Amino acid sequence: MLAALTRLGGASAHAYASSLGGGGLAASRVLPTTRRMSSAGEPAFDEEATSAYTRIFEQHMHPQGPWKLMLEQAKGLVGGRAGRVLDLASGPGEPAVLIASELPLTQVVSTDISPFMVEKAAARCEKLPNCVAELADMEALHFEDASFDLVTCCYGYMFVDLKKAISETARVLKPGGSLVATYWVDVDLMRIGDRIMRAVLNEAEPPVPRMNPLSLADGRALEKALEQAGFSIRLTSASSYPFSAPSIDAGFAMFTIPIASDLRSQAEAREGEDIMSIAKDAFHSLCKEKGYLKPTGEIVVPNNQFVLLHAQL
Ligand SMILES: C[S@@+](CC[C@H](N)C(=O)[O-])C[C@H]1O[C@@H](n2cnc3c(N)ncnc32)[C@H](O)[C@@H]1O
Repeated sequence: MLAALTRLGGASAHAYASSLGGGGLAASRVLPTTRRMSSAGEPAFDEEATSAYTRIFEQHMHPQGPWKLMLEQAKGLVGGRAGRVLDLASGPGEPAVLIASELPLTQVVSTDISPFMVEKAAARCEKLPNCVAELADMEALHFEDASFDLVTCCYGYMFVDLKKAISETARVLKPGGSLVATYWVDVDLMRIGDRIMRAVLNEAEPPVPRMNPLSLADGRALEKALEQAGFSIRLTSASSYPFSAPSIDAGFAMFTIPIASDLRSQAEAREGEDIMSIAKDAFHSLCKEKGYLKPTGEIVVPNNQFVLLHAQL
């Protein structure tokens, strides 16, 4: 992770590295606005998922990862002037914090539906005078019409009602404003989850995980929905980067996030069976078979492909 940070360059990389350390909640910066719950009655990312997500979050700083590319787009679109950027589904604050660190004239609002995520983002925005974190549902934003020059969203549109979220994105953008977004097209993470669930279910077909990062992977669904809402697609580009974890246990925690609730349900329903051991054994075998387990004990999963797009109103 430090290597990836160093490559971000100079003093801003240092400030950025410090900001990842977290810290206390900057209560004044968390404005409790919309607080919609998911259809299951739970926040989209609860406390446990938020904590586990921190491990995946660190992977996205990779030089071929999404945030650096999104920053380059933001520089071209709003750099050097006093623009306003809204980052949707920021999780613990990205790419909002990176954009705010690198573009000091730009006002950046980091948003997420999960209060646990917003708490983390607020702590990271604290040292940046041009960044705030707010609770917001990207399907029903509380911001005024035509109030942002740029909307960014890294890995968010896969988890929401696309039509509502895009309509809200278009509403808050100024005429001619831009959206820079990313979505997954192929991730080994999902194959790992599938393999573990098959082992747990005695080789029966696993359910589609409730959290499906590949929901937009086929057929240009996001691009089509944007075009229907009046956007023009200016750019789409695909990139890939590896995910790594320092140990098999850390890897298990990280790579089972999408199936965590399914694993918990199985453990509750099948009292007396050691579901977690079955799952961990399946993960270990898969890591050995695919070469993910390195001689150092590190887990490296190479294939995580995403699309970055720029659309303009
Ligand atoms: C995969 S994370 C992406 C986080 C971050 N942008 C990143 O690059 O790592 C997806 C985020 O979407 C948020 N989310 C899910 N539904 C949402 C909604 N309706 N409105 C806003 N955020 C939502 C989740 O709480 C979670 O933090």
